[in-house]
Formats: sequence, C-alpha cells, structure tokens
Amino acid sequence: MRQKIIMDVDTGIDDSLGLLYVLASPEAELLGIVSTAGNVSAPQVATNNLALLELCRAPDIEVALGADTPLAIPLQTTEDTHGPQGIGYAEFPLPPRRISPRSGAQLWVDLVREHPGEIVGLCTGPLTNLALALRIEPRLPQLLGRLVVMGGAFNHPGNTTPTNEWNVHVDPEAWQEVFAAFAAAPADRRPLVCGLDITETIEMVPDHLARLAERARSVPEHEVSETDTPGTRSKASNPIVRFLTDAVRFYFEFHRHYDQGYLAHMHDPFAAAVALDPGLARTRAATVEVELGGTITRGTTVADWAGMWGREPNADIVIGTDPAVFFDRLIERVGDFARTVYPDR
Ligand code: BDR
Ligand code: CA
Repeated sequence: MRQKIIMDVDTGIDDSLGLLYVLASPEAELLGIVSTAGNVSAPQVATNNLALLELCRAPDIEVALGADTPLAIPLQTTEDTHGPQGIGYAEFPLPPRRISPRSGAQLWVDLVREHPGEIVGLCTGPLTNLALALRIEPRLPQLLGRLVVMGGAFNHPGNTTPTNEWNVHVDPEAWQEVFAAFAAAPADRRPLVCGLDITETIEMVPDHLARLAERARSVPEHEVSETDTPGTRSKASNPIVRFLTDAVRFYFEFHRHYDQGYLAHMHDPFAAAVALDPGLARTRAATVEVELGGTITRGTTVADWAGMWGREPNADIVIGTDPAVFFDRLIERVGDFARTVYPDR
C-alpha cells in the first residue's frame, strides 16, 4: 500500500521541488494539496500548484485554497525571495484545472477523518490552515499518522529576523497553536520539525541541476553557471527540467545576493524526503514554544532540550542528516520522473 500524504504548501520555489519529489516518489499517494499564503498570496499558491500538476501530467489531485491571511496579523509575502509569481524566473500558463470547493482547513479535516492513522501531513509553509483545521477537529493529532513540518530555527540564526525562520515569522500564532495541540499526542505522533539548523545544510548547486538534467536525458545538461547573465532562461528540452532550472536559478541568485554563495537551500524538498522516509533524519525530542510577545523576539521558536520547563516534549527536531544521500535521491527520483512524463524530450 502506498503512503497517503497531504501537502500544505506556499509554493514557492523550494515548495515546488517538494511537490515534484512527492509526485516522483512511487511509494507516495498524494491525496490533496492545501494552498497556504506565505511566499506569495494563497490564490497565487493555488494557481502554481494546479499549474505544476498540469506540467507533470499528474492525476486530478485536489487543490484547496487556504485562508487569505495569518490567524492574527496581516499577510507578509516575499516575492524578492521567490520571484513575482513564487516560482522564480519560471512562468506557468494558466492551468485548466479547477480549485476545490472545500477550504484548505476542511480538506485537512475531511482527509484525516476518512483515513484515520493513515496519512502523513507535510507542511512546508506557515501553519495557518493546519491551525484552523485543529480548531475544527481537535483530535487531528490522533487522526494523523505523522506530521512533518519545515520551520523554525533552534540553535541557529533566523533567515527573516536575527532569530526568526520565515514560515514561523509569517504566522507565529498558528505555530504556537499547533505545538500546543501536539503536546497531548503520544510520542510516536510528535511532529518532526525540519528547522533551519538542518535545512541550511541542504545546499543545491548548479552541478545538482546538471546531474538531474542528465538523468532526465534533457539537453543541454549543463545550463547554469555563476557567470551567466542573471535571469538567463533555460533551453532544456524536458519541460520539467526547464521549469526547475528557471525556478532554481532565481533562488541561486537570491542566495548569492545575501552573500551565501551561488547555491540554494532546499528546505522544503528535504522535508518532503523526511516525510516519506524519516530514517533520513536524526532527531532529538524537545518541548517547543513560539514567542508571541517580545519586542524583538516575537516569532522565535524556543526549544527546551533539557526539560527545564518540566513538560513532556511536543516535537522531534531534526538535528542531523547526510545531504549527499538526500541529493542523490532527489536527482534520481525527479530525473526519472521528468523522463517518464516526457519520454520524447
Ligand atoms: C522556508 O521559507 C520559505 O521561503 C521557503 O519556501 C521555506 O519553506 C524557509 O525558511
Ligand atoms: Ca515553503
């Protein structure tokens, strides 16, 4: 039996790679996609998700629209990180597929009720819609098989403020509600949290794209170099490789702009890989709270590693992985998938 999965995303350059990873994984059955406001607005995220499914010639997977805004604060988006439409330099044609009539929160609730204990939830954006789902169905932590989230920075600087990671920064109240809800969950249902401590070690470089193109038998294989004119468009023969190249080039340039080198942190595809194979990650249990007050620390994730608060852990935080193993898997899976979807390119 394939692993049922629901994805909650703010697509997003790296979210789109996370989606591709799951679509390319034969052991995964993607039941639904929740479109969360974050990197770009929720309607733009939903359009990106539908267009990506179309590009991948995927079956009719349900795509639901999430809330327009975070629980308690106005929405902040980040087009400078992910491009005007959230997919870097890539541009999708308007997708013929239609958005679901159910809300993102309702999709979460309906799916976990239909398949109790069987679904892995994978969140790679703010947790707004998961928190809304928990308000409708407080037994969600018991009904979900496993939850894997990308977000937070623990013993590591933030990427949005000195201490905040972006997904938490956008909706701190939602993250706090989710961590609080999972405090009552048994140890084997604790959320697996992929924070910046680990996801910033997942560095994609141009050679990874070349290896993926080669695996997909897409030509030319080596398309991206640090010396290229910014914004150079891909001529890859394979449409999935072409999309990826145009999307990721933008992410390379963004990271270089912030002095991190000509590379891109692949936060979300790493979380996708962990969702399907938790064995990829070494974890440590901790009690996590999100700072909701604070004058300069609001949105900070605080982990009590040593039990100083005297409370049971409510999260398993990823503390180690082998990035090379992850990249080999990403290249194999997405490369093979691109070749299978477009065998003549
Ligand atoms: C997270 O923020 C977003 O911009 C990325 O898609 C990722 O989910 C990393 O902090
Ligand atoms: Ca994301």
